[in-house]
Amino acid sequence: MTRIFSGVKPTGHLTLGNYLGAVRQWAEVDQYRAESLFGVVDLHALTVEHDPGRVRRLSRQAATLLLASGIDPEQATVFVQSHVDEHARLSYLLECVATDGEMRRMIQYKEKSVRERARGGSVRLSLLTYPVLMAADILAYRADEVPVGEDQTQHVELTRDLAVRFNQRYGQTFVVPRATPPKVAARVMDLQDPTSKMGKSHDAGAGIVYLLDEPDVVRKKILRAVTDSGSEVVFDPEAKPGVSNLLEILAACRGGNPEALSGAYESYGALKSDTAEAVVELLRPVQERHKELMADPSYVEEVLRRGAERARGMAGPTVDGAYRAVGLLPPT
Ligand code: TYM
Repeated sequence: MTRIFSGVKPTGHLTLGNYLGAVRQWAEVDQYRAESLFGVVDLHALTVEHDPGRVRRLSRQAATLLLASGIDPEQATVFVQSHVDEHARLSYLLECVATDGEMRRMIQYKEKSVRERARGGSVRLSLLTYPVLMAADILAYRADEVPVGEDQTQHVELTRDLAVRFNQRYGQTFVVPRATPPKVAARVMDLQDPTSKMGKSHDAGAGIVYLLDEPDVVRKKILRAVTDSGSEVVFDPEAKPGVSNLLEILAACRGGNPEALSGAYESYGALKSDTAEAVVELLRPVQERHKELMADPSYVEEVLRRGAERARGMAGPTVDGAYRAVGLLPPT
């Protein structure tokens, strides 16, 4: 059976980008067609300046939102990365296979290190090695597929390279995985700056729809989305990034494709109000279920406890095998 691994990092509140680019696909399709593991990858949240209490709160919230989105703990394994030691154990071995040049070529590293330095901060070494930990997340479970948004495909490519290199050097150990981004909304853009990704770690909130935004906040953000000085509704991400982003969001919510939908609109205003209502409707059940789950935190805790136990059982033998393969003496 196909195995899937994917994760969200608790660096901010989950966004519409996370939902359309990844989480919805996990909940609606992936968990039913494959053996699936979904992690709140909290170790990744420590790669930039962080507040310990906030990371803890966001980790709980992310886990609750995964369940609220419809991920069923009877179908899929939901867990917190730091509860399973195998991730960090394997990451070190993979650091011994990866090169620093490879790490420095990662687009997200380049962007984030520039941002950290511009803020006057220093760049944590873990930001550079982040993709190795991500590779460990995936390879520890011998996952075949990694459903992620487009921004993560370079990291999955690196994961493939590391798996192949390790297998060639030390013998067949890892499955070589592939990224499976969604067909529509693989890269949802910021509503105020439609040439950059809608990202939960960005500071500005006006261009980002959060999964837990109240309906009126969602409406306001979408109605105020930046478009362009034209008036024709056409899907053309290069020339009309704002309008194209709205069409993409609408298509993801209602089905269909953005080009076809563009024909149905004569004004930007009509497109915006339909998109706003479609997003409000999409988020409503997730928000309702989130409220119910918040009333019973012990349920979420129990799901995470069982998830971590199952995940450890799956990753343990693979990571032990990798330790032996590179020549480390087994403990006696
Ligand atoms: P993260 O937490 O930034 O995002 C979680 C998922 O949401 C997708 N995504 C988007 N998709 C479309 N449009 C957007 N604007 C958008 N923003 C985010 C991401 O592509 C991702 O699928 N490095 C990962 C977390 C991670 C991981 C892993 C993922 C760590 N280890 C192993 C898969 C497998 C990250 O930062 O995702």
